[in-house]
Amino acid sequence: MTITTTPEKFININTILTEIGLTSRQREYLVNFTNRYNKKTQKSKKQAQLNRQHIADNKKMVEFQLPLKELYYPIVTQQSSGSKIQDLDGNEYIDLVMGYGSNLLGHNPPFIKAAIIEQLERGIQLGSQPQLIGEVATLIKELTGVERVAFSNTGTEAVMTAIRLARTITEKNKIVIFANSYHGHFDGTLGKAKIVDNLVQTKAIASGIPTNYIKDILVLKYGDERALNIIKQEAKNLAAVLVEPVQSRRPNLQPKAFLQELRQITQEAQIPLIFDEMVTGFRIHPGGAQAWFEVAADIVIYGKIVGGGLPISIIAGKAKYLDAIDGGMWHYGDLSSPQTKTTVFAGTYCKHPLAIASAKAVLEHLKAQGATLQQELNQRTSQFVDTLNSYFTAEELPINLTSFGSLFGPYAEEKDFNEPSEKKSQLSLVFDLLYYHLLAKGVMLRGNGGFLSTAHTEADLDRIVQAVKDSISELRQGGFLPFR
Ligand SMILES: Cc1ncc(COP(=O)(O)O)c(C=O)c1O
Repeated sequence: MTITTTPEKFININTILTEIGLTSRQREYLVNFTNRYNKKTQKSKKQAQLNRQHIADNKKMVEFQLPLKELYYPIVTQQSSGSKIQDLDGNEYIDLVMGYGSNLLGHNPPFIKAAIIEQLERGIQLGSQPQLIGEVATLIKELTGVERVAFSNTGTEAVMTAIRLARTITEKNKIVIFANSYHGHFDGTLGKAKIVDNLVQTKAIASGIPTNYIKDILVLKYGDERALNIIKQEAKNLAAVLVEPVQSRRPNLQPKAFLQELRQITQEAQIPLIFDEMVTGFRIHPGGAQAWFEVAADIVIYGKIVGGGLPISIIAGKAKYLDAIDGGMWHYGDLSSPQTKTTVFAGTYCKHPLAIASAKAVLEHLKAQGATLQQELNQRTSQFVDTLNSYFTAEELPINLTSFGSLFGPYAEEKDFNEPSEKKSQLSLVFDLLYYHLLAKGVMLRGNGGFLSTAHTEADLDRIVQAVKDSISELRQGGFLPFR
């Protein structure tokens, strides 16, 4: 349904807009903007309508709100290069999604493309040992200081494996995770804390997750001294503490002292500390959050950046835990043999030759560039966020961004356990409209934030800032923000 196809439908949408309390000025503006945006991205909208029946797709950048219904469709992209991505209608966007953080070096860098093509020419051999695997493992060890490395495909799989290794070695079950963290979609981490009858309990975050999967999960507040006390009390029952060192959902919380204290407590109690470095790994520093916070975890998982856009994840860390995959080190020519008790680890696509070739190109580049690559990019991201925040303050807008490395997003306050994750209001309508205004001006955000890459130029950043300013000004004209 497009808003203006038939007068009858036009009346329908206007009725809806009136019912939710929009003024006539807001309604008129919204209908005009929607028409303009639909026209500009018409091929994407057409595909969405054609495919909806066939493709079960829950991908959304903003939550469904009826007044914006006509704007809800994914932009269908056909090619990308550097910081830019192009849609089916030929519109170009400065991409800030950057493969959910995978494309630290931009889209399709020539050296990664060449490495993938070279491997493609040699074929895709699954089930045998990829030629480049040893070099990739060595590079990861050099950059991060881990002792051993295993290869998997996604962050979710890596989290699942890390927990299994910890449980195998400790012979315990209970895992501490922290509220607001994201560790992928393995059932065993999909618990949230809820206060029932004054007691903190773990509940499934969605339907289809049996209580049995999460009964051994203890969800604590991140960065909170009380969490450390609970870990001390529970120490003898814990198989691991799983941490997202800086949460993508709350990048402003960067609790170095907390992490260091957590390390000390877990070390003394011999509880494996697992760092989920899917986002922070190779981004904040070549050695990731471990190097940044000066905390050596027992098990560390990486992904995203390492694959340069191809699916890969890394389970790494101390030999004591990684040995549960293969039994540990042994030599030819003597009586040595695998000594450690092992558990299950598998996957058809683990060590995929294309992903390994791409990883080698990425890691060699990171090694050659040294920490300067991250320092410069992180500094640019912080300046970019400062520029936007100064503008928001001057315009008296309730938006405050923050960054960690090249990740940026809204400053997030601490929530109580029972607080809903998002409250819908006129303000959320304005934020969602801002998202679509930016798309209309050629800027593709990841929700309310995104990632910068080394491919983003100063001209790109200037264009983004200008697009934000123009969007805000239009939203003021449309009556969605007060005039100044
Ligand atoms: C911190 C963290 N852990 C785990 C995951 C899951 O990774 P994947 O989507 O590759 O399964 C993500 C994904 O964004 C993540 O940010």
